[in-house]
Amino acid sequence: MTEHWTPASWRKKPAKHLPTDYPDQAALAGVEQTLRGMPPLVFAGEARRLKSLLGDVAAGKAFLLQGGDCAESFKEFHADNIRDTFRLILQMAVVLTFAGGKPVVKVGRMAGQFAKPRSAATETIEGVELPSYRGDIINGMDFDAASRVPDPQRLLQAYGQSASTLNLLRAFAGGGYADLYNIHRWTLGFVADSPQGAKYRELSEKISEALTFMAAIGVTPESQPDLHRVEFFTSHEALLLGFEEAMTRVDSTSGEWYDTSAHLVWIGERTRDLDGAHVEYFRGIRNPIGVKCGPTMEPDDLLRLMETLNPRDEPGRLTLYGRFGADKIAARLPRLLDATKRSGRTVVWAIDPMHGNTLTATNGYKTRPFDRILSEVKSFVEIAKAEGVHPGGVHLEMTGQNVTECLGGARALTEGDLADRYHTHCDPRLNGEQALELAFLVAEKLKEERIEAALRAAV
Ligand code: TRP
Ligand code: MN
Repeated sequence: MTEHWTPASWRKKPAKHLPTDYPDQAALAGVEQTLRGMPPLVFAGEARRLKSLLGDVAAGKAFLLQGGDCAESFKEFHADNIRDTFRLILQMAVVLTFAGGKPVVKVGRMAGQFAKPRSAATETIEGVELPSYRGDIINGMDFDAASRVPDPQRLLQAYGQSASTLNLLRAFAGGGYADLYNIHRWTLGFVADSPQGAKYRELSEKISEALTFMAAIGVTPESQPDLHRVEFFTSHEALLLGFEEAMTRVDSTSGEWYDTSAHLVWIGERTRDLDGAHVEYFRGIRNPIGVKCGPTMEPDDLLRLMETLNPRDEPGRLTLYGRFGADKIAARLPRLLDATKRSGRTVVWAIDPMHGNTLTATNGYKTRPFDRILSEVKSFVEIAKAEGVHPGGVHLEMTGQNVTECLGGARALTEGDLADRYHTHCDPRLNGEQALELAFLVAEKLKEERIEAALRAAV
């Protein structure tokens, strides 16, 4: 592991979940070369800024909110979709900031989330067997042989789509849309008349009143430009290493390597082998990074990963996302929390309550029961508190669209409802209402934590 690192040194290591069946390897190499000449999508200074904010999360002083599509797609690419997910994140951030009394670090699972690891290499429908769909950056979802052939041109299309998504996100974040004085306008139409919509309206009235009070005593958008804008960051699973390698650049201010395809990138549950290609790539980039920790992760595996991925123990460098499932978290999480605590190293502990709670409905739809998602989040907060670890954040698959992909929630979606608006290109996502409901629940937990801390301080 102390061997010399280069952006390409992962190529000598065993790689899982990377496509090996590009018909024309020279064409792939040509596209990667083209990408090397393209402008970076993010600037290293921004990645360092996120790292420092995540350092605050690790220290218990802030909370991480990360969310977006399971998989972005070329077909669903539209300004309205980007705006709707962005405003849902703003709404949730308001709810969480108000309850927790701590800053919320806002990270989109957006502008680059295209490649998917698949459990089976092929898919069979009515006796026809084809290679699995691996995400729009690799091949096409349509069930025909031609679509499933990996096409290098898709890397360029993904780059282009990421660039314009990021451009719009930057405009929204800094150009006035995210102004706290707009708090009433972020409510999505279909959420407005739900119980969550009403609760949100109540909260936004309180905040508006507080803003009026603050303005009266001199805290105005002119004196506090942060009222007008948010810092917003992007992230994705850096699975397709050829693409990530091509986006890896030396930062001229620090002389260090950064993956400039996103601010934060993470290693998936299926590619976190210590000696594998993904860990090799990640150890050399200086971005803040994440690792998904599923039910098979042992404390020793985790300690070795921490040593390899964050040898200097930089705060904010490493975020761990538990993803065990509502029924497994109580058995698996405490020993991992104990290991990170005893190591004395700095990490952010967050929860991904989506991936351990997936099941197939009787009518064949891949879905997730909302009550299991909620239950895993609740357990996470309770277990973390019991272990004396800050429950640092949530990582969600969600969309501002009014989809019907997860069961339950305030509108009690049933298996029969799934067919109505099931649009995901991979896993089932929370819709706006469900995501907001989850934010209110986490908010309650954060508020309890805040009140307990205040009581402790008062004694
Ligand atoms: N910039 C501050 C923050 O991000 C305040 C803020 C402005 C804000 N617009 C917001 C907070 C929208 C939440 C949502 O915390
Ligand atoms: Mn997923």
